[in-house]
Amino acid sequence: MKPVKVGLLGLGTVGTGVVRIVEGNQEDLSSQVGSPIIISKIAVKNSDKPRDIFIDPAILTEDPWDVIRDPEIDVIVEVMGGVEQTKAYILEALERGKHIITANKDLMALYGSEILAKAQEKQCDVFYEASVAGGIPIIRTLIEGFSSDRILKIMGIVNGTTNFILTKMSKEGASYDDVLQEAQQLGYAESDPTSDVEGLDAARKMAILGTLGFRTNVELKDVSVRGISQVTKEDIAYAKRLGYEMKLLGIADREDENISISVQPTMVRRSHPIAAVNGVYNAVYVYGEAVGETMFYGAGAGAMPTATSVVADLVAAIKNLKLGVNGLKAIVPYKQKKLKDDEQ
Ligand code: HSE
Repeated sequence: MKPVKVGLLGLGTVGTGVVRIVEGNQEDLSSQVGSPIIISKIAVKNSDKPRDIFIDPAILTEDPWDVIRDPEIDVIVEVMGGVEQTKAYILEALERGKHIITANKDLMALYGSEILAKAQEKQCDVFYEASVAGGIPIIRTLIEGFSSDRILKIMGIVNGTTNFILTKMSKEGASYDDVLQEAQQLGYAESDPTSDVEGLDAARKMAILGTLGFRTNVELKDVSVRGISQVTKEDIAYAKRLGYEMKLLGIADREDENISISVQPTMVRRSHPIAAVNGVYNAVYVYGEAVGETMFYGAGAGAMPTATSVVADLVAAIKNLKLGVNGLKAIVPYKQKKLKDDEQ
């Protein structure tokens, strides 16, 4: 069987996890898609940098365009991050008929509709499961699992770094700065952790979840945001005394056709399952008119959980490639949203 060639943009924490899974599970993955999966080119910032996995230097390039323009590559996996330049790479790859897997929530929250429209035009897949809640397959769940239902509420802990910080502050009385440093060392935090602690990362993820869950075009500016940088050890201790845990919660509500979305530190009653979500774990609670309450739980950041979602998307895109049905899931029935605030 002719191998499927994959180009990788980025070889940081998640990219390394992707290589490990594709190589380590090669036999199982190729039996699922019916041919070997080869990562044939990888764009990196510095090809001489020492790495903790072996990579054939011949497949490394410092120019992402080498990957995008390679006619042998069918699928591009983007785990390099960045927005404007990365968008240009992705649009050009789609133009050339390549399928895209991305973990980039910043990109999808800002330009998702433009990228998906291009994908639809070119009949290409754009899958982005890893962009929200790391290893939890919540995007697939909202698009496919709940296609039959009318979602009324999505509520979740969708940032692992802040949950890690709040948990350590609550359980160990640790200081905010020390825990933030630990989260950075463990590879959970963004390169600029301001977007984690100020709630922007969670807001981007909630915009994506709101768009998919409510099947409307939620934009980042529609999400009201407050982070955890002002939360003190004393606030957390006070909440605990009253029977609550402090969590950075994203809440998306729909009432009739009006929606509201926010991210803010919230006191969650200890008896609610969300209060028991600790460390880097994420949880997403979804309430649907027909299904009622559901909840999804798992690691929200880190190399291997995030890479699990990336490689699952890769398998899905390659299966579609074999069946000749790429692009079908790019069709998101966006309709104009009505925000609760619009009425005031
Ligand atoms: N910085 C993000 C988090 C990484 O902590 O959740 C995963 O998106």
